[in-house]
Amino acid sequence: MKQIVVLISGTGSNLKALIDATASPTYGVSIAAVISDKTSAQGLAYATNAGIETTVVAPSDYENKAEWDRALARAVRAYQPDLVVCAGFMRLLGEPFLREFVGKVVNTHPALLPAFPGAHAVRDALAHGVKLSGATVFFIDEGIDTGAIVAQVAVPVVAEDDENTLGERIKDAERRQLVDVVGRLAREGWQVSGRHVTIG
Ligand code: GRF
Repeated sequence: MKQIVVLISGTGSNLKALIDATASPTYGVSIAAVISDKTSAQGLAYATNAGIETTVVAPSDYENKAEWDRALARAVRAYQPDLVVCAGFMRLLGEPFLREFVGKVVNTHPALLPAFPGAHAVRDALAHGVKLSGATVFFIDEGIDTGAIVAQVAVPVVAEDDENTLGERIKDAERRQLVDVVGRLAREGWQVSGRHVTIG
């Protein structure tokens, strides 16, 4: 059974999907802790209800970004996870954190990277007029949504879409992909060679 720590900032629907998946022992994953940068993150309630430990590491409690980064690394280190999953974690992880955990941290992004990185991927994809968007799971590096890609799922854009309808359609596919990929990484292991990720 592999241990993961999940980082969240918001509603936590991806976290909820992961929690549901861990109910099956064959999934191969146990969530050791959920860590947020915000006490107000609604997703923390999913963790509490499931009996999973939660920690908040809020930037406002630290002198600067590097100190916050170190505090986050300490919080994660306490659980010795095999994999860290950013599931709607809306902050960039800096050098002190990445030095320790690079190669072990995946993120999910609601677009087909390298198109539409950043915090407004769904809006940006709509504004660009793409007919296909989707979601990407990737290993975090020091850039903004630039790391090696683990998996992608395509989601069609329809004429009537607004940010909400497209966002929900993407999130539906995104949750299923994240659950699938985290389980496979945990059960089968992975290798990263440059930009190329192999599971198994
Ligand atoms: C996801 O679409 C994720 O890709 C994006 O924020 C959303 C988080 O959703 N960065 P939730 O908090 O898991 O519901």
